[in-house]
Amino acid sequence: MLTDDFGREVRGVRVSLTDRCNFDCVYCHNEGLGDTRGPMDPQDDEMSTDDVVRFLEVAAEFDVEAVKFTGGEPMLRQDLEEIIARTPDSMEISMTTNGTFLPGRAGDLVDAGLERVNVSQDALDREQFAAVTQSGAYDRVLEGVDAALEAGLDPVKLNMVVFQHTAGYVPEMVDHVAENEGLQLQLIQYMPELTGKPEWNVEIERVHEWLAEQAVGVEHREMHDRRRYWIASDDADIALEGDEECDGVDAIADDPNVGMVEIVDPVENPTFCANCHRVRVTHDGYLKGCLNRNDDLKPMGEMTRPEIREAYREVVADRVPFYGEYMVRSDDGEWELNEKYLETQAEA
Ligand code: 5AD
Ligand code: SF4
Repeated sequence: MLTDDFGREVRGVRVSLTDRCNFDCVYCHNEGLGDTRGPMDPQDDEMSTDDVVRFLEVAAEFDVEAVKFTGGEPMLRQDLEEIIARTPDSMEISMTTNGTFLPGRAGDLVDAGLERVNVSQDALDREQFAAVTQSGAYDRVLEGVDAALEAGLDPVKLNMVVFQHTAGYVPEMVDHVAENEGLQLQLIQYMPELTGKPEWNVEIERVHEWLAEQAVGVEHREMHDRRRYWIASDDADIALEGDEECDGVDAIADDPNVGMVEIVDPVENPTFCANCHRVRVTHDGYLKGCLNRNDDLKPMGEMTRPEIREAYREVVADRVPFYGEYMVRSDDGEWELNEKYLETQAEA
């Protein structure tokens, strides 16, 4: 496994399979490539099935453990099942989708080897959903979530971007996952860099505070320094974490009347990027070290396998945290000022 200059092992890759999407979410960062959304038909610049598989095989040589397929909307690729089936066995496979194509196809994806899925669902009512996604596919997405659960994808995580249009709907979304077994909620702090609308920002710390008040249990995860909240539905008969009769957070987590809510807050959380363990591949086959950077792009389309290996090494070597770049973890596990980053800034 390769480690970058900031001590971050590259354990995962995030591969965009297309920049096409049948939605037009107002917050969409388009994978950091600007507004590239075009026609819905397959485009010539997209990586071929073989290109994707070849890259994944190289990544597996570097002991990369997990791949997340993303888009645009990755299910617009008709060869998605084949790509998943040909992904090296050593990798855990997940996908982020808007959910519209899951009905009728979720089972095939699972048969091919898909293990987990994130479905973007930013609202629980049709109008609000349409306002955010600029699409009328609300019912299809609900069907898609059900199809994913039925196909055995576990967990099914709902992604909700928290920004001005959605913040008021967080409580009902939290109740929704508490009441529905198999669902988890991932609240994602809106990233304004790539959309140019800073006025949509909300204070994510207030969402943390609200969740902490509601939660029957809280867990602080090392990975990404994330806080997880366990929220009980009204039906739950459960002892609060810390109470004498409570068997700890694992018992809370196992209770079918309890849902898990996690906040992903790259902008506010000073240690988020310090815990980033993945590199990315754009739909047109460029390797890059960070969602928010396009200055280190390596085109893999014309490369031989040894050249891809070399490009992979270079991209990892160039990796710099984007948010909270001033912080690193010291040998004794404490967060401290990142002298190395400060030096590179001074040189620049
Ligand atoms: N800020 C935060 N998350 C975003 N996503 C897309 N655009 C943004 C943004 N500007 C995330 C959403 C969506 C996934 C495809 O990417 O979680 O579900
Ligand atoms: Fe962007 Fe995802 Fe929405 Fe499509 S579904 S517009 S890729 S955020």
